Amino acid sequence: MKILGIESSCDETAAAVVENGEILHSSVVHTQIDIHATYGGVVPEVAARNHLEVINPVVRLALANAQCTWNDIDAIAVTNTPGLVGSLLIGSLTAQMLAFLHNIPLYPVHHVEAHVYANFITKQSGFSQEKLQLPVEQPKFPLLALIVSGGHTQLVLFRNHGDFILLGATRDDAVGEAFDKVAKILGFPYPGGPSIAKAAEVGNPRTYSLPKPKLDSPYEFSFSGLKTAVLRAVQHEVGVDITFPSHKLSERLTSAQRNDFAASFQHTAVDILVDATTHAFAREDVASVVIAGGVAANHELRTHLANRLPIQIHYAPPQLCTDNAAMVASLGYYFSREKSAINPLDIRIAPRLTMTAR
Ligand code: KG4
Ligand code: ZN
Repeated sequence: MKILGIESSCDETAAAVVENGEILHSSVVHTQIDIHATYGGVVPEVAARNHLEVINPVVRLALANAQCTWNDIDAIAVTNTPGLVGSLLIGSLTAQMLAFLHNIPLYPVHHVEAHVYANFITKQSGFSQEKLQLPVEQPKFPLLALIVSGGHTQLVLFRNHGDFILLGATRDDAVGEAFDKVAKILGFPYPGGPSIAKAAEVGNPRTYSLPKPKLDSPYEFSFSGLKTAVLRAVQHEVGVDITFPSHKLSERLTSAQRNDFAASFQHTAVDILVDATTHAFAREDVASVVIAGGVAANHELRTHLANRLPIQIHYAPPQLCTDNAAMVASLGYYFSREKSAINPLDIRIAPRLTMTAR
């Protein structure tokens, strides 16, 4: 069963063709990073307009790269929640129109759940433009997923496809958001995750001691205190008080100090994630551990978690960790085995919705 996935929930316009949730035929991602970098973050209105401009060419390219015509596509899966209203609308309305026009079943899927399904893509057809380093096998159930992105940080235990419980989530900022905000303080470009990770490679993680949150539940997360702790430590380091404009702080730091702050922050953020995941692994019945979402591209997170767990962890190649439509198409396949397609005219978007079991 070949599914066309469509993703537009934030600042990536993406389309992909995946067969049986497992074989990647094509994956096209048009990122708006350069457009939003000028503003230091995603501007929703600008994102929606850009999705509208590129979504049809992106879908056409995904089909062409997979050497598919509409006759080869068995279903369409689209992210309809959560995300930016305008952005979600463009993808959902495009999917609605295409499903209606070509008389193809339509499955709306949850973006955060879809991130986990990047790990179910283990094969690549000969059509694929770019050879990805895919995992050798699919994860097994019960599956513990650490989902870490710009909007979400949560630990989810999947008993099977569509059958999961949320063990814990962040109380405030998502970890990716903390990477982005700390990067801004330190004067690194948007998105902060990759630039902090790069700076951290040459920084010393032991230079600045940053606090880890103390929460009632071992599965809960909090990153807003860590972000503020970095801000206060930088202010202290350069000798200014809290009224000093934060966007001017980085000018007063040396390059070595910026790298050391990046390394110290990343080390603490990764430690928080690894502590909660190892705790859940010890307490729950778990066959596989998966990390998913944009922050799962972080090398430090991958190696630290791997070192602390007695089993091999699963992660997708970086291109499938950040937002893409292949993960949407993969989840769409499993979704189609459990739920019937919707009437395309009934598709609704939901900017905020927690993932719920089916
Ligand atoms: O999953 P994603 O592409 O979009 C959301 O659904 O949010 O995640 C984007 C987030 C951003 O906050 C970005 O800074 C972070 O993932 N990110 C990283 C890395 N690559 C992307 N964080 C840490 N290390 C990375 N290598
Ligand atoms: Zn995402």
